[in-house]
Amino acid sequence: MYLLLLVGVVLGAYIILTQTLFKRSKCKGNAAMAGKTVIITGGNTGIGKATALHLARKGARVILACRNRDKAEAAIRDIQQDTGSTDVLYMQLDLASLKSVRCFAKTFLKTESRLDLLINNAGLVADGRTEDGFGIGFGVNHLGHFLLTCLLLDRLKEAEEARVVSLSSMAYRWGHIDFNALEANGHLGTGRYSWQFFHAYCNSKLCNMLFTHELAKRLKGTNVTCYSVHPGVVRTELSRNVSLWQKVFIEPIAQLLFLDPEAGAQTTLHCCLQEGIEHLSGRYFSCCAVQEVSARGRDDAAARKLWEVSEKLCGLSKGGITTKDF
Ligand SMILES: NC(=O)c1ccc[n+]([C@@H]2O[C@H](COP(=O)([O-])OP(=O)(O)OC[C@H]3O[C@@H](n4cnc5c(N)ncnc54)[C@H](OP(=O)(O)O)[C@@H]3O)[C@@H](O)[C@H]2O)c1
Ligand SMILES: *[C@@H]1O[C@H](CO)[C@@H](O)[C@H](O)[C@H]1NC(C)=O
Ligand SMILES: *[C@@H]1O[C@H](CO)[C@@H](O)[C@H](O)[C@H]1NC(C)=O
Repeated sequence: MYLLLLVGVVLGAYIILTQTLFKRSKCKGNAAMAGKTVIITGGNTGIGKATALHLARKGARVILACRNRDKAEAAIRDIQQDTGSTDVLYMQLDLASLKSVRCFAKTFLKTESRLDLLINNAGLVADGRTEDGFGIGFGVNHLGHFLLTCLLLDRLKEAEEARVVSLSSMAYRWGHIDFNALEANGHLGTGRYSWQFFHAYCNSKLCNMLFTHELAKRLKGTNVTCYSVHPGVVRTELSRNVSLWQKVFIEPIAQLLFLDPEAGAQTTLHCCLQEGIEHLSGRYFSCCAVQEVSARGRDDAAARKLWEVSEKLCGLSKGGITTKDF
């Protein structure tokens, strides 16, 4: 009797979870990709690799912007084998170095004639600092992508229709941006405990939301639109830097419930391939559908301020400070 009840409760919980937090969806967008060029940051594994594979299969020229040549080349071999595409290439990009971002943009603009899709996908949950002294979560997840997007914007505007898709996360809800601390210390939280850098991660994902919110305003009147994405809860290497005992706890749930990278790529693909969503520029998508955003994720003043601070930190605006100061 009790056993039956227990089975019922577990089954019920499983069904509820697979309809909410772990819900699956399928991209139905089918925009033509032949002749178009796509950049995917962190396209060598996880959600980025699954996204790259799908776009390569549709005939796009796909550039994997990755920090590690060996990993990127291994991914390219897999994608080529799977799709037959010979139009997938590696270009060195380490988002933890603003110099590397500038170097990537320079090389790209010199060697490639067009850009139709920029997918700001790379991300990490970890402790540490970037080459320029920023907190690694803020520096890689937000600031590197901010600079990259700014440097490529003119090229995106030259396309008949272009999009910027940025991977955020539902974790933005737990994020908070302390601008005073950011300008004084160059990070939004650090610390060696997992919960500390998970908090920094949430803050960086809130930055991703506000970035897209502000970018959409700045792109009004152009043919470039932008979107932020929560991909679902996906089995990837994202938790590689959390502690071992947490992994032991997460792993069984991950095996049972988490989406695989292919399923985790669907909302990104929706924002890349679905026609007729241009009027939703600046909005937030999950499960291949636009979602409501809590007030902090669409705060106009915070979004504008983050943009201005980011410009300063990257040295894009006048009065830029040298970040080695942190
Ligand atoms: N997995 C989830 O449940 C989940 C949920 C919400 C949002 N997201 C977001 O989805 C995106 C993709 O994550 P994922 O789950 O696919 O994680 P992943 O498997 O760990 O992949 C992350 C990618 O980012 C790259 N990367 C990290 N630091 C970099 C740097 N400094 N320069 C260039 N590339 C760098 C990694 O390269 P290396 O392989 O060389 O380290 C890797 O290719 C992230 O933005 C993440 O925040 C994921
Ligand atoms: C922008 O889109 C409009 C309408 O589709 C098109 O006429 C125009 O040529 C596009 N602009 C560029 C720069 O391609
Ligand atoms: C995270 O883990 C990887 C591999 O487990 C390690 O090489 C790396 O130094 C760690 N820290 C960061 C910030 O990536």
